[in-house]
Amino acid sequence: MTVQERLQHLRRLIQTSQHQYYVEDRSDLSDEEFDAAWDQLLEIERAHPELVTPDSPSQRIGGSPASQFAKVEHPHTLLSLTNVFSADDLMTWRERLVPQLEPDLQESLGWVLEPKIDGLSVALEYRNGVFMQGATRGNGDIGEDVTANLRTVKQIPLRIPAVSSKGMSVPEVLTVRGEVYVRKEDFAAFNTTLAAQEDRVYANPRNFAAGSLRQLDPNESARRPLRLWVFELLDIEGGPDLPTHEARLNFLTQLGFPVACAAIHRFADSEFAALVETADRFLDAKADLPYEVDGVVAKVDGVAAQRALGQTGRDPRWARAYKRAGEQVVTRLLEIETFVGRTGVVTPRARLEPVQVGGVVVEHATLHNFDYVASLDLREGDQVMVMRAGDVIPRVVKALSEHRIGSECPWMPPEHCPSCGTVLVQQEDEVAHRCLNRNCPRQLTRAVEHFVSRGALDIRSFGVRQAELFVAQGFIAAVADVYRLPWSKIAKLKSYGERRIAGLKAGLVSAKSRPPARLLHALGIPFVGLQVAELICDAVRNLLELPHCSADDLELIDGVGPEIAGAVTEYFNDPVRRRELHSLALSGLCMLGPERAAVSEPKEAGIAGKTFVITGKLSGFTRSEATNRLKELGAKVTGSVSGKTDYVLAGKDAGSKLAKAQKIGVSVLDEGAFLKLLGNLESN
Ligand code: IVH
Repeated sequence: MTVQERLQHLRRLIQTSQHQYYVEDRSDLSDEEFDAAWDQLLEIERAHPELVTPDSPSQRIGGSPASQFAKVEHPHTLLSLTNVFSADDLMTWRERLVPQLEPDLQESLGWVLEPKIDGLSVALEYRNGVFMQGATRGNGDIGEDVTANLRTVKQIPLRIPAVSSKGMSVPEVLTVRGEVYVRKEDFAAFNTTLAAQEDRVYANPRNFAAGSLRQLDPNESARRPLRLWVFELLDIEGGPDLPTHEARLNFLTQLGFPVACAAIHRFADSEFAALVETADRFLDAKADLPYEVDGVVAKVDGVAAQRALGQTGRDPRWARAYKRAGEQVVTRLLEIETFVGRTGVVTPRARLEPVQVGGVVVEHATLHNFDYVASLDLREGDQVMVMRAGDVIPRVVKALSEHRIGSECPWMPPEHCPSCGTVLVQQEDEVAHRCLNRNCPRQLTRAVEHFVSRGALDIRSFGVRQAELFVAQGFIAAVADVYRLPWSKIAKLKSYGERRIAGLKAGLVSAKSRPPARLLHALGIPFVGLQVAELICDAVRNLLELPHCSADDLELIDGVGPEIAGAVTEYFNDPVRRRELHSLALSGLCMLGPERAAVSEPKEAGIAGKTFVITGKLSGFTRSEATNRLKELGAKVTGSVSGKTDYVLAGKDAGSKLAKAQKIGVSVLDEGAFLKLLGNLESN
């Protein structure tokens, strides 16, 4: 036997044995025999490095560490799956699909059901039977080249055998897709080892698979108990004709790939009800499987039918992932963060190791309030159960305290505001802890974000970034300042050129005419959402009158209860809030509903040409702001009261000018009356 022949024999022996062991769960060789063959192989290869081929089993380990992974463009987009969450939806999917097919395809229509394995999606490419490249899915078009790491996965054939259907030949090109995963028990054992070495443990098998395959050092990947399930033949050139998914999977099994579908089988179209039943049973029992699955996949079997149906976006029309709503998954609680909302309530939030729940990646989950964290005894570093039901925000359901390894940190709720450091208070009958500092920067930023947001004033070109920046720069100390921005200072900021400023100004101007309910909602009064704001604005003649309404008045409005009424009156009891409303009115924001605004137009027009004198201390705006607004409306503003004066706007502590106006009979307006005159109140 030549050296080459000896090598070939050993490689085949080891390959067959590995396939038996890792794919078929059996072994013809004893451990000793296997080890002996392995040692001989290594010995010969060490002596003849020129004879080492990429498909040698020895190449499953080792390889030099990469500094980063090269990007790989997938020749075939790796598609994703649309989820359905009920048996009915699965039925409806089929009902809508069938009529889209030509009669002959309808006749031969069949289905396959497969487990949806929870791991990391990869594409494996073989050229003339040799495994050449393996890549992660990435965004579907571009993934990462993890060939060296995939070589270490024992279930991946490094060479595929010739098959007899077309003579003894191997396909020139074969690309398959599958999921690299880890068995539950291997995962647990590996984590225990990591914990014993005081290493970071993985939150769930999926993260384990992804993390292990993305090790820069293939030697590290080789230590990980990774496995593979194959679920799709992406491309074949120079191989047999394979008209169905089932035939393709059978072919892949023949080639030595572990195929997921082995667990569940094919259904004729007339058996679709049985498919759904099988899917339900599978989901009921998925906890008993040795690996994690995050659903079950139903696919059209015929390749011609698949092609005819095509895809929408990145999801094939011919396949659906069926999952249970309200799915619970385990992940790691990395940190408990706290945030101040716009009303000052400090809320804890879980930062999680990213995990897929019900088809979306979840990185955060609400923890409601400090009591909730305490009641679950959550600790940073805990493995936690996370649930997402339908569209609801994900939440942490419980800590898996039995998995604690001792390094988890009990959580101490903060006593001070995470933004401004003010001592938090818990008001009577409230679970919430609040920061009562009105100038708290984070609170203010949140309030501004809400004020300009889509459902509120919808100020285009004004977003979270502007809110943060302008508050941080001290340009905004209250929401009304959104309309009193110091443009000359903004112009000096980096990346605030003329065009951007013009865009901001235009956004601010067009938002002035939003209905008053939007403005009321924008103020961010607790319980006053858009609907409640509309009820209030329909009932109150003018937003400027709202601060004068008592809780009893408000409760007369259908749909407004004591809680809302209390919140509104409490809000406007604060003189600062009342001033803010005046300031907004002066800035020209609409305080009247559409029909009333129309009535007020002639009034506004009536200001043009009139002469005003402003005196005393104003509260909602400055004298120069009032002057500018009047000038905008075509009025004249002078410094002294005379017979030519039409109106005197008198603030607090007005002195001689007020006295003179009263003496010669000029109309005197207080701040409220002045705003009414500006067209923000119905004519009376
Ligand atoms: S089929 C058209 N089948 O699920 C092909 N995907 O949510 C689309 N997955 O990225 C995928 N088991 O990584 C398919 N039996 C299976 C699967 C499966 C797991 C993964 C796959 C994909 C993700 C889509």
